[in-house]
Amino acid sequence: MTATVIDGKAFAAKVRGQVAEHVTRIKEENGITPGLAVVLVGEDPASQVYVRSKGKMTVECGMNSFEHKLDVDTSEEDLLALLDKLNADPAVHGILVQLPLPGHLNEDLVINRIDPAKDVDGFHISNVGLLSTGQKSMVPCTPLGCLMMLRDHHGSLSGLNAVVVGRSNIVGKPMANLLLRDSCTVTIAHSRTKDIQEVCKQADIVVAAVGRAEMVTGDWIKPGATVIDVGINRIDAPEKGEGKTRLVGDCDYASCAEVAGAITPVPGGVGPMTIACLLANTLTACCRANGLSEPEGLTA
Ligand code: GUN
Repeated sequence: MTATVIDGKAFAAKVRGQVAEHVTRIKEENGITPGLAVVLVGEDPASQVYVRSKGKMTVECGMNSFEHKLDVDTSEEDLLALLDKLNADPAVHGILVQLPLPGHLNEDLVINRIDPAKDVDGFHISNVGLLSTGQKSMVPCTPLGCLMMLRDHHGSLSGLNAVVVGRSNIVGKPMANLLLRDSCTVTIAHSRTKDIQEVCKQADIVVAAVGRAEMVTGDWIKPGATVIDVGINRIDAPEKGEGKTRLVGDCDYASCAEVAGAITPVPGGVGPMTIACLLANTLTACCRANGLSEPEGLTA
């Protein structure tokens, strides 16, 4: 079997188009422009690239982008004061603090200072609790993107066996909660799971989010299963020339694609969906804040 490739790049473009359309409508009908504030502390090069890309796409969707770049040695007090200001600003509907933060800042304290209604990352403890009890919340962007692709591919997910490989707060745990809410039978596998290959082999859906390059191979996959690869790992690629690298997922694409029914590539799978879902979450937060109807198909 050769798997259907789930084109995350095209899907993300479609989601951004839907967001832009809805933004145009609420601007015209309600005179409201959704706004996203992104806070970056320090100069981590990868974070700078992400923040630039988020800002660009926010503006392309017709929303306001507010970028706050702070020195690497910014005090916790100053960062919390900025968040208080953004929480109180009616032009700001979504707030994202780019992670990781420099070591002297308490990440939990900072994230939990964001107004949960503006927490477009869905990392605030209130949103975590709401999601895990099946209540309306802000949902973390990467798992939301995975869920959208799975719903699009399968229609109903009810009764399917799903294995999430990885137990992070950002992806693994919220992904498991979302799949459970869509009535999957969910297993979270991790580094201590016994016979992890056999566990994965029972799954109709495998979501790999461990951060280990090409760990999941084709012999872990049930024929016809759907494989969602969240990993983005840079590895050496001597075949491209000395010192060259390439991006790979947590799944060994070639062997998994031979067995799976459908698979997301890396790059061009889950990655583009994360930013598209951040924009969707900003629009959702704006609609909720103003008592407007929420965009259909763009929330969990
Ligand atoms: N750093 C890497 N991924 C993310 C994300 O999804 N949100 C935030 N805030 N920081 C990140």
